[in-house]
Parts: sequence; structure tokens; C-alpha cells
Amino acid sequence: MKPKAVVLKGAMLPLLLLWCFVAVDGGGEEFPGVGPLLVRKESRRTVASTASGEITAVDVRDGYGGAYHLQFITMAPSSLFLPVLLHTDMVFYVQSGSGRVTYVEEDENHETEHIDVVRGDIYRLEKGSMFYVQSHPDPTRDNLRIHAIFNAVDTDNTKVELPAAAYSNISDLVGGFEDKVLQMAFGVSEETILAIKWVEKPPAIIPFPHTSKTVSFGALRGIRSLTAEEEKLTNKKKTKAFNFFEAKPDVENCNGWSTALSHKDLKALKGSNFGAFMVNLSRSSMMGPYWNPKATEIAIVIQGRGMVEAVCIGEPSEETRFKAKEGDVVVVPRLHPVTQTSYNDEGFILVGFNNLVGKNRPQFFGGKRSVLRILDREVMAMAFNVPTAIVEGLLSARVESTILACTSCAEELEGRMKDQSKGEEEHEEEDDDDEERAAWKVDEEARREAEREMRMLGMLV
Ligand SMILES: *[C@@H]1O[C@H](CO)[C@@H](O)[C@H](O)[C@H]1NC(C)=O
Ligand SMILES: *[C@@H]1O[C@H](CO)[C@@H](O)[C@H](O)[C@H]1NC(C)=O
Repeated sequence: MKPKAVVLKGAMLPLLLLWCFVAVDGGGEEFPGVGPLLVRKESRRTVASTASGEITAVDVRDGYGGAYHLQFITMAPSSLFLPVLLHTDMVFYVQSGSGRVTYVEEDENHETEHIDVVRGDIYRLEKGSMFYVQSHPDPTRDNLRIHAIFNAVDTDNTKVELPAAAYSNISDLVGGFEDKVLQMAFGVSEETILAIKWVEKPPAIIPFPHTSKTVSFGALRGIRSLTAEEEKLTNKKKTKAFNFFEAKPDVENCNGWSTALSHKDLKALKGSNFGAFMVNLSRSSMMGPYWNPKATEIAIVIQGRGMVEAVCIGEPSEETRFKAKEGDVVVVPRLHPVTQTSYNDEGFILVGFNNLVGKNRPQFFGGKRSVLRILDREVMAMAFNVPTAIVEGLLSARVESTILACTSCAEELEGRMKDQSKGEEEHEEEDDDDEERAAWKVDEEARREAEREMRMLGMLV
């Protein structure tokens, strides 16, 4: 079956701004795919909101069967996120503040573990764990803000979509049983069960005055380092998060830095299909065009703003651009070429999770690490339909592949995006009832322009 462009109605995937769709031929079975997409901060839904904190969420899909639930948890100092049971793996990033995550994993012999987290940390909790979170008690501290990703498809059986919730809270779990069952199970009186079941349920995040016994928060990371003795007492198994700001970046130059981590860098990620990364682009910079052969990227803009340009693969390939700002989520499915650029007056920082379907090595188009350099030059010349000399010129430039200077690139991309959407509006007006074609198909002219641009990008690097 030939892949073809399809149109999904917005109602099928509410709240998302969708930029392109492709049908992927899944072994004779056709299913709708989703191209690169942007989910604005404004379209997050609120899961819980109390005086002590807030939880907002978005759901995204990658078009390859992957579905992800993201939660943005904010806790004021001295708050408690009440215990929940995880239905699925959770990987989280600490955006600000500090606190303690206490958890019990299903294979542990009934001992709690905890991990003290600070800004920049990445950690993972396994499916089946029960956990709760305490924020730092010091009222002058930043709110503890956690960005978490959950698999919304069962990783043990990719055909099974998990229930909407990523976790259940204790009161719901216990309250689900008949009173009689609970009485017998706990060996207590009916009154005790009724007292537990019929009080008003607390919200997800509540104030938590830190009294003497609970946690020696003085020992929290980021305040002072632990003595060896305390270390022994508090961290039996020495659980430690990975911190982006303490790690040495994989790539670093005057245009920015980037760091990616896998289970090799963080033991807690072992057995998980998630990796994580951070990209810090200085002003006027660009992450050179690349694609991920075996990973979908789900990134959150944590500072600044920038332009993302991606190619929707399909027939025909279409380019898509969008401006992303703090709090927005950018999803780039695997194999989709993409580039990020920062503006002249502001940096652009993203933290992201990648869903790995194997060992992934990002492939760059330009520069020293260009994958195109491996291919035969004559074949390349034919592929671009240009003389070999041009291809030689294109691929011989000894520049960085990854993070490069790109003055006014974001500005120009934004300008072009505006022109394009103006063009589309006009086009739609002419062709109102054939919205299927009007909305998504780029005409031949635009395609040629994209090709030209692609070549220019190549020339740039
Ligand atoms: C548990 O979840 C229910 C909804 O399923 C909600 O009403 C209740 O407030 C929650 N409680 C906690 C402690 O999260
Ligand atoms: C990002 O990089 C710039 C330098 O390029 C640096 O000044 C800034 O502190 C970095 N931001 C973070 C959050 O690391």
C-alpha cells in the first residue's frame, strides 16, 4: 500500500497543534501518523490545583505507536505530593527547587528508598513503584517543579494502551474495595474502614509542616554535602540522580552545549526505553539539521524561545516550522529531520526525553560528521541534480555538525513561517470546501523552495 497524505480532524486529538500528517504503511495496515508537532503551554490541562501546588498535563503521540503523557508538577516549599502507585515508567526532570522523592519498588523487600533532587536532575521510577514527594521546607526556596514523562503505551506489550491515568492514589486504590473485604484484609473494625473510606479525600498536593522526625532536610543536596556517616544513614543504596549542570557536556563550544544520557550514565534508567537530553543554544545559534534513526524526541522548552524547523516525511515531504517558547512541548518522531535555532537576542534551552527503540545515534546532514559524506559523490550529485563540484563544495566544508553559529536564522525562519501561513490562508479561501488538500498540501512551488533552502542550509554549514 502506498503511503499517502491523510487528514485527521482536530477533534480526534484535542488540544494539539498538528503540523503535518502522514499515513505510515504498517505491514499492509494503514494507520495515521503524526509528524513533528508543537504543543503550546497554554493547551496543557489542569489535573490538580491547590494552594500548595498544581499539576498540569499534555498527551502526545509520535505516529509510530508511541504515546506519552507529560505532567508538570509544581509544589510550593513545605508541601507533600501524596503517595501514588505508578502504572507505567516515569522519567522526570527537576526544573527548579529541591525536595525528596521516597519510593518503594515492587521487587524491593519492603524498604523505602529515597532520592534528594535538585534543579537539573534526571531520575526514573519504575512501573509498579509507589512514591511520594516532599518539597524543601525552606519558605524562601523556589517551588519544586518537576517535568515528568510517562509511557502511555505498555512497553511490555506495545499493542496495549494504558488507562488514561499514569498513576493512582492510595485512597482511590483502597477505596475501590468493599468495606467487608477491607475489614478482613486489614483485620480491623467496620468503624475504622468507614472512617478511612468516607472522609473527604485530600487533594493530590497538601501542605506539609516538616516536624522533627520525618526528614532531616538539612542533609538535602544543595545545602551542604553529607558527612560519610549521614551518607550511610540516609542513602543506604546510594541512589543518585544525573545532573545536567554537573555533567560534562557531550558537545560544547561558544554557540552552546548539549548533553544526552542513557542507562550508561544513570543506572536508574536501566531497563527503561527512555533517555534524556538537554540542549543549550546561545544567542544566534543552530543545532545543525539531524534525524534520530531510533528515537522520538519529546522536548520541553525550559528557557528562552527559538524556531524549530522539521521535515514531515511522507509523500511529498513537507517542511514545517514553528516558534517555541518556554513551557511548550516539541515532539519530533524518529526519522524526521529537524533543526533548532535561537534568536539574536535570546538563548534557547530545551530539556527532552527520547523514547528509544534501539541504540540511537543522531545523524547529522552537514559538517564534519555528515552522513552524506559517506555516500558516493557522484550518486549524491545525481540525487541533488547538481554538478559533482557543487556536492564536493557542500560536503567538504570542515565545520561543526552539531552546534553552530547562525546569525538571524530564527528571525528569518519566523519571517518565512509568517509568509507561508499568509499564503495558506489565501489558498484556503480560494478552495474552501476542499479543506483536505488546502490545509496540508504544499504546492510544487513551495516544495521547490524547500529544496532550495535545504541546499542553502548545506551551503551554510
Ligand atoms: C485521588 O484521586 C481522586 C480522583 O480519582 C481525587 O478525587 C482525589 O483527590 C485524589 N487524592 C489524592 C490524595 O491524590
Ligand atoms: C546556557 O549557556 C550559556 C552560555 O552559552 C550560559 O551562560 C548559561 O548559563 C547556560 N544556561 C544554563 C541553564 O545552563
